[in-house]
Formats: sequence, C-alpha cells, structure tokens
Amino acid sequence: MDDTLTALRIDEARFRADFEAQAEIGATGDGGVHRPALGEAHLAARAWFRERIAAAGLEFHTDGAGNHSALLACGPAGAPTLLLGSHLDSVPYGGRFDGPLGVLAALEALRVVQEAGVSLPVHLEAIDLTDEEGTLFGELGSTAMAGTLKAEALREPRGGRAALEAGLARAGLTEPGLLTARRDPASLAGYLELHIEQGPRLANAQVDVGVVTGIVGMCSYQLMFVGRADHAGTTSMADRRDAALGASAFALAAREVMLADFPDCVANVGDMRFTPGAFNIVPAQVVLALEFRAPEPALFRLLEDALLEQAQVEAERFGLGLEVERLGWLDPAPMSDVAQRAFADAADALGLTHVSLFSGAGHDAQSLAGVCPVGMIFVPSIGGASHSPREFTRWVDCVNGANVLLQAALRMALL
Ligand code: GLV
Ligand code: MN
Ligand code: MN
Repeated sequence: MDDTLTALRIDEARFRADFEAQAEIGATGDGGVHRPALGEAHLAARAWFRERIAAAGLEFHTDGAGNHSALLACGPAGAPTLLLGSHLDSVPYGGRFDGPLGVLAALEALRVVQEAGVSLPVHLEAIDLTDEEGTLFGELGSTAMAGTLKAEALREPRGGRAALEAGLARAGLTEPGLLTARRDPASLAGYLELHIEQGPRLANAQVDVGVVTGIVGMCSYQLMFVGRADHAGTTSMADRRDAALGASAFALAAREVMLADFPDCVANVGDMRFTPGAFNIVPAQVVLALEFRAPEPALFRLLEDALLEQAQVEAERFGLGLEVERLGWLDPAPMSDVAQRAFADAADALGLTHVSLFSGAGHDAQSLAGVCPVGMIFVPSIGGASHSPREFTRWVDCVNGANVLLQAALRMALL
C-alpha cells in the first residue's frame, strides 16, 4: 500500500459525535437502548442514518430486506463492492455498542476514503443490516442478501408471525420483497465488520484487538409441554399433569447435559409462557424458548439431538405431551483467511496488539460467509457485559477498532 493510504485515519470527533447521537435514539436512560428490529426506535435510527449518509454526500441505497447502505463509487465501473457494516437494531433493553459501533465505523471509513479522493479497485459500501439480533427472525437482512432466506422459514419466525408482519408493515417491506435482496456473489469483494467482543477475554488480557477466526452456529426451538388444566387446590400433587414441571425440569436438565457432554457449547432457556397462567390453575401448557450454540457442524447436530431427547425424557417423566418446532438455524462459519490476515496486518501497522479468537455471539458475517470473504474484529468489552445496558467499550478502543477496520478494508480492496 502506498503512503497516502497507510496514513489514512478516521476523524475521531466526527465518529464520536455520530456514535453519541445514535445512542440517544431509543435510549433507556441507563446507558442502554431499546431498538428491536423494525420497531419505531429502530426505524428512527435508520432515518437518522439516512440523514448522515446524505450529509456526507454519499449515495443511499436500500433493498427488499430494508438493509440500509451508504455507497462510495471509488472503483472502476463494474467493479465489485467491499461491504463494511453491522446493525442498528438492538436486543430488547440492550447496550449502545452492539451493532452501531460497526455501522458508524463503516460510515466513517467511507467518508475518509471519499475525502482523500483515492480510487480503489473496488467500490465501498457501509451497510446497516436488518434484524441481526433476531427479535423477529435473526440475521434477516444478511440471509436475504446471501440468498439463503426461504419463504417457508418466514411462516414461523422465532419472534412470532404477528411481530414479523407488523415490523414489515411498519417499515414498508413485504415478504416477497425480502426474497429479492439477494446479491450476486460476483458483485461482492467481501464483508468486514467491527464489533465489541461481548465477552471478557480481550479486556482481561489487555489486548487491543481480537481477530475473529469463526462464528458459532445458533439454533432456536419452541418446545411446548402439554399437560392439563386443573384446580390447584383440589387436585392432589400425584394427579396433576403440570406442564410447568416438565418445562422447569428441562431447563435444569439441559444445563446438566451441557456441562457433562458439551463443554464447548451453550444452551439458553430464554422464555417460558404459561397457559392459562393463573395462581390457582395447574398450568396446561408451557411454551419454552430454547436456543443453543455450537462451534462446529457435527457437534451442533449432536447437541440438537441430545437436547430434544432430554425434553422428551422430562415430558414423559411428568405425563406430558411435547411438541417441538425449529424456528431458526444459522450454521457455524469460519472467517476468511484473507480477511483475518488483513485485520492482523492492519493492527500491526497501527502498533496495536491482537489475538485470534472465536465468536460465541452470532453475527451477520456468518450468513455472508458462503457468499464472499468475510472477517470481523472485536474490541474489548469492559467486564464482558453485553445485551445489557452495562455494555461498555472505552472510546480509545472504539477508535482503534475503527482505524483497524479502515486499514484492513484498504488492504482487502487492493488484493
Ligand atoms: C446476537 O448478538 C446473538 O449472538 O444473539
Ligand atoms: Mn451485534
Ligand atoms: Mn447482539
């Protein structure tokens, strides 16, 4: 790379002003934000992003999945595009770094390249991907772009059909439209993302940057334990078919299964809904939200079998029926060697320390991994907190991450 390019750095003040402005949108007053995908606050954050794109004199683009992009046509006509980005949606009552940091670093990288007036062999695009967090579906925008989104899967999304329909309507999107967002792989030079680590490894080791080697596979299931409603005062303990017992026993047993047989995997029971749900009625039905994650495909399948088997055991133990429905599946994905090298070289050139690490959080890069070379870097999360208003990354680390993203993008662009 020539000296003009290696000398490029982000504008810290502008980047910070943008970061702080986005954190006001859907702010919860405790340092966090509440911006579930395609809700009012998320759409307000997107409107604000469109304004920032226009203010920068960049071209705005959106697609059938609602993905929002800033385009910088800095390559020759017909050249592929290098995507930089993340997401502006949050989990319910989440933090202000998870997603926006990567979107705003991407926008800042484009502004820096634009101001430098340099031409590259590729175009650049800063993208805000739809519903990364899965309050509706999970990595909706990136699976649509990858062409792996299937119409059947939209019938039973993990956030429920009604929420998906309401979100699409609010955003002016349609289901057939979602399926048109696929990008031709030949049009993509790669996808790079800056993100907070969301765990304590970098902060504990006092390392500046983590180069991500791969992203965990994630699967969500709805398990319905079916018992019988009865009078809670007059039905003896022995005569009950109490759906709460099956669901609760499963939550505890799942933990034991993980600890005993799947030390590199995790499982979460994130919700239980009781029907009818009253003090004095034995629960007739419990719908349980199960998510589990594994680092590689074979283990992922074994884990799925083990957890479903355990659910059946617990249902039988309490005389219950069990209905299971898979509501989402994202394969584990290795990151591209080329992208990992670009990030490591960029960090070295900037005098930053780095380690390689695996991501236990899901990210859009895993959906795009089958389409183009993908890569991610992490910056330290204080205390490892994330999906919580406690999420915090020191500003110096945000700036370091954005500069590594910029310099890695230039390296990828020149390959
Ligand atoms: C997304 O952040 C996830 O890992 O659930
Ligand atoms: Mn994220
Ligand atoms: Mn997240």
